[in-house]
Amino acid sequence: MSEPDLTVLAVVGSLQRDSVTRTVVHRVAERLQQAGCALDVLDFLNEPLALYNPDTTHDLPGYSDIQRRVVRADVILLGTPDYHGGLSGAMKNFLDHFWHEFAGKLFATIVASHEKGLTVTDQLRTVARQCYAWTLPYAVAFTEEVDVKEGTITSDSLQRRLDMLVRDARVYGKLLAGQRRADLAGTEPGFLARHRGAKL
Ligand SMILES: Cc1cc2nc3c(=O)[nH]c(=O)nc-3n(C[C@H](O)[C@H](O)[C@H](O)COP(=O)(O)O)c2cc1C
Repeated sequence: MSEPDLTVLAVVGSLQRDSVTRTVVHRVAERLQQAGCALDVLDFLNEPLALYNPDTTHDLPGYSDIQRRVVRADVILLGTPDYHGGLSGAMKNFLDHFWHEFAGKLFATIVASHEKGLTVTDQLRTVARQCYAWTLPYAVAFTEEVDVKEGTITSDSLQRRLDMLVRDARVYGKLLAGQRRADLAGTEPGFLARHRGAKL
């Protein structure tokens, strides 16, 4: 079997059992897998992640495993509900755990919101910028009971946005992953120069 052209880590940022975020993240993950990507899904409902503590987190059992999964990823798909106009605590907690590991990677974001999730998207972009990651130039936002009902995507408009996201995550993810690898292995200046040899 040929090597997958891209590795994607999909992160579910809702702990709710019947989460619509989970439904959509899984649907996108399936589509990326069918398109030849290697997929890893991180869901804190199945794999609880303790609150980030800079004094203790790095020595906790399980930290190195999750770090390895982040390091392996070329594209990070982030799905979160809109909580008070912001990302969920579960998602923020995950993001707090890493930064070097995100540098030069592509974030693709999905937001469950009743209000288009624009402020949530902005917050995810801020995190990406602080960690030297790229984002797609748009996010996909959707509304429960309108776009997703009983575990199924029911609106054509959401389906079209997801088609676009699946395509762009693959195409731009691959371009950026190739350049990231070259820059990390190279000697030229550039924003990734400072990440060469980062202890991951
Ligand atoms: C604590 C809390 C705060 C919320 N705040 C907002 C909000 O500010 N704006 C909004 O549009 N929806 C808000 N919601 C609604 C959720 O974003 C919405 O129900 C979402 O679909 C939940 O996603 P999930 O099913 O994946 O958990 C809030 C829900 C909760 C539980």
